[in-house]
Amino acid sequence: MVLLVPAGLALLAGLDGALVLLGVPAPIRADRLGDVHGQLMVLGVVGTLVALERAVAVRRTLAFASPVLLAAGSLALLPAWPTVVGRALHLAGTLALVGIYLLVWRRQPVSAVAVQGAGALAAAGSALLLLAGVPVPVVTPWFVAFLVLTVVGERLELMRFAPPPVAVRAALVVATLLLVMGAAVALLHPVAGGALLGVALVAQAALLARHDVARRTVRSTGLPRFMALAMLAGFAWLAVAGSLWLLAGAVTDGPAYDAVLHAVFLGFVMSMVIAHAPVILPAVLRRPLPYRPVMLVPLALLHVSLAFRLLAGDAWGSVTAVRVGGVANVVAVLMFLGTAAWSVAVGPPARDAGRRRAEDEPDDGPDDVPATAVLDDARASPAPPTDAPAATSAPMSLSVVAR
Ligand code: HEM
Repeated sequence: MVLLVPAGLALLAGLDGALVLLGVPAPIRADRLGDVHGQLMVLGVVGTLVALERAVAVRRTLAFASPVLLAAGSLALLPAWPTVVGRALHLAGTLALVGIYLLVWRRQPVSAVAVQGAGALAAAGSALLLLAGVPVPVVTPWFVAFLVLTVVGERLELMRFAPPPVAVRAALVVATLLLVMGAAVALLHPVAGGALLGVALVAQAALLARHDVARRTVRSTGLPRFMALAMLAGFAWLAVAGSLWLLAGAVTDGPAYDAVLHAVFLGFVMSMVIAHAPVILPAVLRRPLPYRPVMLVPLALLHVSLAFRLLAGDAWGSVTAVRVGGVANVVAVLMFLGTAAWSVAVGPPARDAGRRRAEDEPDDGPDDVPATAVLDDARASPAPPTDAPAATSAPMSLSVVAR
């Protein structure tokens, strides 16, 4: 729980930095926040959340070194200290994340863990490059590889509930290799690297859109449907990002840079974060975060405003539209945070609370329900009849391994 505070601060600072980069009024007008926006958002915010969820799932005290170091690195990036301090801490935190995946791999050597481990290696690679002074635009393919592979690995893991042909799993692993190769090649030859990255992202988007359980759960109701909608929209943005990378070749500045990065980071990654928040945060917060239909509003705003930013702004060449869309993106993220905080504060809707008492269910805290167990069930249940995450009878992912 305590680690959510620095992650939240990093998010607010990253959003402030986004406004600075957009060139619109920001609560804190510090160029520094614009300079560190990318690293803060990727390693500081999403990286800390990923590491925290993994640490909770593997149930090893030492595993918490990863989110602690990532959160500390983010805080160190905020004041006008040399960025080397924050970058060194981020490198240590990402290496610790690699360590967590090595632990999991020793217990469960499956492709899903390998894909997520490759993502963690890409995170460590990005932190090392930043520490060595490589410019952020050159490092962004490594950021992309980190977050995309983390999500793809998780989705791959869930496919065991409705296993696709072996060829599909193999294709996802090949696409993973292409993504990692693309990030490496882009360092030396941005055009060739961009082509590889584009092919990998389009392939992953197509495979997930065709075989992910979200295709099934989107026909259910409540939380499973909300999560599926967010995931399917995310897969579409991943395809957009890959296509743009293929068309544009090297993407290191200008409208294509803005479009590709935010199709991935807002359209895909942030949508996944929103999708998973109601099932991951309860395990970390030790309090339920009940799903409420109003959460669809920030989700819809995120995707509509992103489409506006890319189409009317980046594609059409209108700086004003990029600014309007960008500010609406920030509003969408803040609105989701506000909705989630409100939902935690007021607790489950009365009918859910009554049903829980009647069924004499245990609490949602991590002592009872590991994060990934709830996550698996909520994602994989075939059309559960309620808005609440389902019971914990389904197989677990990392929490099974941790035993
Ligand atoms: C919430 C709304 C957001 C807005 C309005 C926003 C805005 C911006 C802007 C205007 C740029 C500069 C683009 C350019 O140079 O052409 C930028 C860069 C970047 N953004 Fe965002 N962003 C947002 C969210 C995110 C998120 C969620 C992530 C990652 C998870 C992210 C990662 C990045 C990265 C890696 C860069 C490149 C930074 C650099 O070149 O120094 N952004 N963003």
